[in-house]
Amino acid sequence: MDAKYFVMALVLISLAGNAWAASPAPVLAEKGMVVSDSREATEVGVAILERGGNAVDAAVAVGFALAVTHPSAGNLGGGGFMVAHMADGSTFTLDYRETAPSAAHRDLYLDEHGEVIPGLSRNTHLASGVPGSVDGLLRALRDHGSGKLSQRDVIEPAIKLARRGFPLSRFLASALNGYCSTFEAHPGSRESFIKSNGDPWRAGDRFTQSSLGKTLQRIAKNGPDGFYRGPVADAIVSEMQRGNGIITHADLAAYASKYREPVRGTFGEHEIISMPPPSSGGVHVVQMLNMLAKLSIADYGWNGSDYVHRLTEVQRRAYADRAEHLGDPDFWDVPVTMLTSAEYATELADAIDLTSATPSVEIDAGSAAPREGNDTTHYSIVDQFGNLVSVTTTINLGFGSGIAVQGAGFLLNNEMDDFSAKPGVPNAFGLLGNEANAIEPGKRMLSSMTPTIVLKNGDPYLVVGSPGGSTIITTVLQIILNTAIHKMDVQEAVSAPRVHSQWMPDVIAVEPRALQPDVVQRLERMGHVLEPRGKWGSANSILINSRGVWGAADSRQGNSFAAGY
Ligand code: GLY
Repeated sequence: MDAKYFVMALVLISLAGNAWAASPAPVLAEKGMVVSDSREATEVGVAILERGGNAVDAAVAVGFALAVTHPSAGNLGGGGFMVAHMADGSTFTLDYRETAPSAAHRDLYLDEHGEVIPGLSRNTHLASGVPGSVDGLLRALRDHGSGKLSQRDVIEPAIKLARRGFPLSRFLASALNGYCSTFEAHPGSRESFIKSNGDPWRAGDRFTQSSLGKTLQRIAKNGPDGFYRGPVADAIVSEMQRGNGIITHADLAAYASKYREPVRGTFGEHEIISMPPPSSGGVHVVQMLNMLAKLSIADYGWNGSDYVHRLTEVQRRAYADRAEHLGDPDFWDVPVTMLTSAEYATELADAIDLTSATPSVEIDAGSAAPREGNDTTHYSIVDQFGNLVSVTTTINLGFGSGIAVQGAGFLLNNEMDDFSAKPGVPNAFGLLGNEANAIEPGKRMLSSMTPTIVLKNGDPYLVVGSPGGSTIITTVLQIILNTAIHKMDVQEAVSAPRVHSQWMPDVIAVEPRALQPDVVQRLERMGHVLEPRGKWGSANSILINSRGVWGAADSRQGNSFAAGY
């Protein structure tokens, strides 16, 4: 790989924290680009592209590498979504979201009085859905890879990273140290994530994961059966039995990723291709863009009061609909066509008061909604052939349940918390839950992950997505607006500070430096409640234009890295 791209990306990382005001140039490459939340994983992806692999080959290799180098979110024990637009014009979306185990039921997390038992859906063996990542990644490789690279070829780099180790960044060392007491409580986590002499991790320490290396080796040899059957499945079930978990051999053997019809929409000369349910992301990005087009959003300056007022009003209506209508389409009739239609957008947009905030309690929607997590990871890939891949994957909260499978070296997700444990009880993100997202055996929990591809006049334009739980959808929305109407380059679009609202709670969350003081005052006079927050998301994105392929690592996440060739 050309050293200059590493240097440029290092500049990016060194500027982390200076945010938008000092936004560096995006990384430019001629042929292909990978942007992920880990330097090592990005390098794995670029090496695959340089060997002549396509973007799907690289996406699979990056997915396995992130399971090693970004353990707080990259995973074997979680799930994800892949959205791809191939050079021949075809598109696919692959859903490898986790499923509820067969013994799960709607009141799984309630006590005898019908109250939610705190932590049960987050920090215990009961918190895990049946993992989907291994099946999804290998299905994508089999069906859409170049055919030039074998299963072993794309997993081997992850095996090497696990066995030989890699130097810990300051960011990862501190993340591991921060979860030390959680890891101490579980033998599998202790053996994988606590330093052998008990000292805190330090930047530069070599981090090896031998058990994980063995698990990856089994997958490289036996494919999905190396995970869903045999010794790894045995280890998962033993881990479940150690902590009253309910995932069985039959649950693992039954897991199947699924292709879904993408959600599509248009915004001026742009076509949006995004993830359908069980993601809520694609539906609501399209719904909000439809409303914003009716509200002539392009006529308003970036993050002025009229602009933010419009954003907030469409966000509150979309998230109210999310609460009422969104769930796993195999179990719930999600009205995608209605929600993404121009007629519905007109109806909603016409009801917006352009001068004052509508209190969320006055927005007619169900009294419930789903749960979201905040440790997820997004990566974007473009190859020399013109294939585009957008992947978001997660184990839900940071390091998932905190429980690693003893002897197998990977963390289990706590994705069950993305279901609605009980109508009307808000989750960590203040979201409410309802019937569409109630727990049922085999059902996928609702997600906000929004891997998205944008075409401009029919040509590849933007690959985008982000972690950030409920903020993912509005992050993707703002990056599309930043590039499409504010003509920012992709790094500016990603670095630009964000605002977020989600119906309930009825506030606008504001990143540092997102709004000028006079804008804050005007929004408050309109009736909005503003809540300053830290930064969120890590929207590793790629923009393609006549000058080349531009990668933008999001400096909000300390290890994000863009590189091309
Ligand atoms: N676990 C976060 C999400 O899927 O939205």
